[in-house]
Amino acid sequence: MSESVHTEDVLNLMYQLTEYRSQEIRQRLEKVGSAASMLHLDVLLLIYHFAKFAPGNVLEIGAYIGGSTVAAAFGASESDTPKKIISVEAGGGLKHRRIPSRNIFKDLKKNLARFGVSESVALINGYSFEETTISAIRQMLGHGEVGLFIFDADGNVRRDLDCYGDLLADGCWLVIDDYFGPCVKAVPRQAQVNELVAAGRLVPFGFYGWSTWVGQWRT
Ligand SMILES: C[S@@+](CC[C@H](N)C(=O)[O-])C[C@H]1O[C@@H](n2cnc3c(N)ncnc32)[C@H](O)[C@@H]1O
Repeated sequence: MSESVHTEDVLNLMYQLTEYRSQEIRQRLEKVGSAASMLHLDVLLLIYHFAKFAPGNVLEIGAYIGGSTVAAAFGASESDTPKKIISVEAGGGLKHRRIPSRNIFKDLKKNLARFGVSESVALINGYSFEETTISAIRQMLGHGEVGLFIFDADGNVRRDLDCYGDLLADGCWLVIDDYFGPCVKAVPRQAQVNELVAAGRLVPFGFYGWSTWVGQWRT
């Protein structure tokens, strides 16, 4: 890809986002965000956009109580082609200041039902690196079938890209949260993303919201 084509694609993505900010989807995702997401509204809008337009399925690691998952499900439901959404969540509890949860997996299921997307999401309750999770994902997704990979879990995005990278299509969109900031996960994540960019496996498209890295996968 030439540099000028890439710059144009980056600008188009930014422009698309500004368009969404004045459309009806903004209000819908504001409700989702305040009830169920730690992510910035712009990031939820981008997840919606990629799920709607990127060819291929969605694989999410780290759903918490479902904000990003619902955004992906809204986008996929408006896509021209049917899409699978596979979301992996370890569960447990979290004393989050705004949206705490004593039982993450239970609240995740509750929120998917509340926003009417339970039927469109295959949930896996487990860690992304567990054998049972890996085999469940591989039963549902084949080589190059993922068009959107959302990683908002622990500090080790590299581990999951090593594990699931073969499922990602060339040009698959990646949304990786906590690239910057005080979060302890940010330091290893940033180093891992930068290494993959330097190796030509990831192509950056920018930083959105509070600290989310957005880009594409190259096979
Ligand atoms: C920052 S939250 C996700 C926030 C969510 N994407 C949103 O829209 O608000 C991180 C979640 O990842 C989960 N998690 C952490 N490491 C994981 C792993 N390796 N596999 C699956 N889930 C994981 C945690 O239980 C937690 O619910």
